[in-house]
Amino acid sequence: MNSLPIKELIARHRPGHALEQDFYRRADVFEKEVDSIFLKSWILAGHQSQVPEAGDFFVFEIAGESIIIVRSDAGRINALLNVCRHRGSRVCLEEQGHTARFVCPYHAWNYDLNGELQAAPQVMDTLDRDQYPLRRARLENFLGLLFINFDPDAEFAPIASDFGGVLAPYDLPHTKLAHQESYRIRSNWKLAVENYCECYHCVPAHREFAVGHGRARPEGNVAELRQEVLSRAQSCGLSAKMTQKGWKNAEAVGMDRYVDRYPLLKGHVSGSRDGKPVAPLLGTVSGFDGGATEFQLGPISYGLVYCDYVVLYRFTPVQADETTCEVFWLVRETAVEGEDYDLQELIWMWDVTTRADKRIIEDNRRGVNSRFFVPGPFTPMEYYTQAFTEWYLDVLQT
Ligand code: FES
Ligand SMILES: [Fe+2]
Repeated sequence: MNSLPIKELIARHRPGHALEQDFYRRADVFEKEVDSIFLKSWILAGHQSQVPEAGDFFVFEIAGESIIIVRSDAGRINALLNVCRHRGSRVCLEEQGHTARFVCPYHAWNYDLNGELQAAPQVMDTLDRDQYPLRRARLENFLGLLFINFDPDAEFAPIASDFGGVLAPYDLPHTKLAHQESYRIRSNWKLAVENYCECYHCVPAHREFAVGHGRARPEGNVAELRQEVLSRAQSCGLSAKMTQKGWKNAEAVGMDRYVDRYPLLKGHVSGSRDGKPVAPLLGTVSGFDGGATEFQLGPISYGLVYCDYVVLYRFTPVQADETTCEVFWLVRETAVEGEDYDLQELIWMWDVTTRADKRIIEDNRRGVNSRFFVPGPFTPMEYYTQAFTEWYLDVLQT
């Protein structure tokens, strides 16, 4: 194991080039990232339609932490840390379900849906129960998307004000989760984010995506098409507003965000096998304008909104060399599977594309791990990936 101090590793980085191998492998680098990035960032946990009733819950894990997302009797959605206040056991061992309370499997301390301690065998009379609630993460229910943050002081209001108007026409609070899929990627999380942030790879790696999405082309080649889409936006009830506050442009670590619109290519109005719609129009959107809205919210959570469906991604760091890509497909709440949409057709584009991404990211990892790897230069279509690595090195330094 290389023992070069992290600061020296950062200092010898060659500007404009990819990161060195050590950033993707070392456990001490990963630990530093957890402290400097993941404990301070807004992270997509899921969608409110996963917990429609009081007592519904699911568990979300990131970087060795486990968080119970549960709807309480009052309808509020809580993010409870899955660590018993007695001697620290995981309290909830199921991935999802419905319960009236959480009973720790070790010595049976009982917690209600707000995490308040309700019972502790033999010691309840002598214990000050108010001192032992399950600890919490912050939770923001933003348009039905559930974002958590371990930092109690993290701000969300500026994000909401930048995004609210742009996403309003899609009426995300009235969408539902149609499908969710976990893709295990054997690589460091940064290779996944770096890959997501550029579409230089889209023509060679994503034939299915590249035939219909302007993002796969250099900016200059689709500038005219993009203007046409933006000018059509209003007539379909959509906003042409954009936000670019990703990476170094964000006010603080973990508040990274952008919203952008790009054109779909001739004959395509959605992200589907034949470019045709795959679900009913979302919200108040009145027609297919031939564009797609993409957004980022925090460093590892991203979304793409077509006029008829939403796809959300989270690149979840598990450990230095393992990442999970979680993909969520949302459709209009009233849409009925089998009548209004065919699930296989709905998920086709982003299933086939994510499988290809998993493969190219894992191939990338194998090469990066070579004794002979020397980081090469970024190209113009990789500007956002380069911005990510520059931001990353700054954050790691602090
Ligand atoms: S560790 Fe949970 S009850 Fe003892
Ligand atoms: Fe890709």
